[in-house]
Amino acid sequence: MSDAPQIFRDIASMRHAVAQWRAAGEKIALVPTMGALHAGHISLVEAARKKARRTIVSIFVNPTQFAAGEDFSAYPRTFDADLAKLAEARADGCFAPQAREIYPEGFSTKVTPGGPALAGLEDRFRPDHFPGVALVVAKLLNQAQADFAFFGEKDFQQLAVIRRIVADLDIPTRIFGVETLREADGLALSSRNIYLEAEERAQAPLLARILNETAAAIRSGAAPEEAAAQASAKLGSAGFAVDYLEARQAETLAPIASREEGPIRLLVAARLGKTRLIDNILV
Ligand code: PAF
Repeated sequence: MSDAPQIFRDIASMRHAVAQWRAAGEKIALVPTMGALHAGHISLVEAARKKARRTIVSIFVNPTQFAAGEDFSAYPRTFDADLAKLAEARADGCFAPQAREIYPEGFSTKVTPGGPALAGLEDRFRPDHFPGVALVVAKLLNQAQADFAFFGEKDFQQLAVIRRIVADLDIPTRIFGVETLREADGLALSSRNIYLEAEERAQAPLLARILNETAAAIRSGAAPEEAAAQASAKLGSAGFAVDYLEARQAETLAPIASREEGPIRLLVAARLGKTRLIDNILV
């Protein structure tokens, strides 16, 4: 049995602990999450613990990054199980604020990210999403004042947006991306996988399989745009409702016509029943 992480319900108590750790010469890492922790999150904690003596995991289901009609109320909230996993993973702290701590009465500031936030991928389907993510991540980084912060590569556009706002707003926290963790059949781990019905769960690994096949085709000389369009059509025939499947420049997320403009990242979002899945791989 490992020690439970120290729980911080407010910004002041987290900052107090961070200040004490820093005064003792320790480095601090933050792993921002919305809870419903799975092995993918734990891999972020492990990466953080390799880099910093102290790791804080924040758990906050951020209302501003969900549009009306999205799954904010239904989003899984599993705090006790999350804490047990964080104890097992030896996280030092868990910042678990109420919404009023993050968005108190009178809160009225917005963050409008540009660059990768307007790449025409997630933003085309969820226009409110990245402004909400940028706002809460800027606040969490400012609140925790950590040396490092860790995010999953599964939300690849989100990671690019976070790198952009951190650079643009001079936030003194170094950002690390951590490779996507997958089930044995290739499905990327996600808190939303629990929404999949049994038949959809059996179908879901096709997403990663098609990404891998398409990456291999591009590596062997296929034109990126055409290969992506064919992959999208294949997913469509297999019963996925595809929002996008595109080959993009891996750093800027700009559209890419030839392999010479690489490195290339393939990014996909597709729905199976009521579950929206996203994934991406490096070509
Ligand atoms: O990736 C997530 O879980 C969220 O978007 C994040 C970064 C914790 C912000 O709420």
